[in-house]
Parts: sequence; C-alpha cells; structure tokens
Amino acid sequence: MRQVLASGVLLLGLWMMVAAAVGCRSASAPVPLDQLNAKQAQGHAVFEARCAQCHYDRVDQPRNGPSLLGVFKKTTLHSGAAATDERVTATVLRGHGAMPAMGNVVDEQDMQDLLAYLHTL
Ligand code: HEC
Repeated sequence: MRQVLASGVLLLGLWMMVAAAVGCRSASAPVPLDQLNAKQAQGHAVFEARCAQCHYDRVDQPRNGPSLLGVFKKTTLHSGAAATDERVTATVLRGHGAMPAMGNVVDEQDMQDLLAYLHTL
C-alpha cells in the first residue's frame, strides 16, 4: 500500500515537471539576442534605431505604442488587424494612428530584417 502511494506521488511529481516544461515552451519566450542569426540581428539594430523609443520588444508593457512582444505569435495586432508581414510592413511604411510613417527612413532591406527580428519575439 505504501509502495503504491509512493509511486503515485512520484508519478504526480513527474507529471508536474512535464507540465511545467511544456507550459514553459508554450509561453514561448523571445529568441535570446545572442542566438539571433545575422538577418535577425540586423533587424534588431533597425528596431533599436527606429522603433525602440516607442515600443518595447521584450517587455509586455506599452511605451508610446503597444508592446511588440510576441507580435507574430498573436493572430491580431493591437488594432485588431491581422498580424501579418504585409500589415506590419504597411504600418511601418505608411504609419498608423499616432504612429508616424517611416517609409522615408526604413528601406526594403531594413524592413525585411526587421520582420525577421519581429518573428523571433
Ligand atoms: C513615434 C513613436 C513610434 C515609433 C517610432 C514607432 N511606432 Fe509603432 N506605434 C506607435 C503608436 C502610438 C501605435 C498605436 C497606433 C494606433 O494603433 O493608432 C503604434 C502601433 C504599431 C503597431 C500595431 C499596429 C496595429 O494595427 O495595431 C505595430 C505593428 C508597430 N507600431 C510597429 C512599429 C515598428 C516595427 C516600428 C519601427 C520601425 C515602430 N512601430 C515605430 C508609435 C510608434
């Protein structure tokens, strides 16, 4: 009887460890900065230069604009529009509400790199 109880407790413990590990993965933290590939790292530099003053990328809190943490892991953007490359590109190039258009300072290459970085968040 004691043995059954003990193995029951052991199984429960194991199950909780597995659940914790799985839970951790589904919360999916951003890819660490030191693990970004060259394109993503370039995108991070663009983010720091062009977006960071208004958006947090790794903190789930608004700055001047909504946090971009997990922006492509959600189905919709802050406005309710679909979270797609096209929509984010249009937001950056043409602006959105209080967000200024940045097509004059973000070129095609910057935009591609930026999207690669945003997908790691
Ligand atoms: C001067 C401040 C400012 C800068 C710089 C800025 N944003 Fe924004 N951004 C905002 C504000 C404010 C909003 C919310 C606007 C709204 O929804 O009306 C916003 C919204 C967004 C949204 C959500 C759009 C939606 O449909 O909900 C995305 C995505 C975004 N910004 C990406 C970026 C990226 C990427 C950069 C850098 C290239 C950037 N922003 C630079 C202020 C800024």
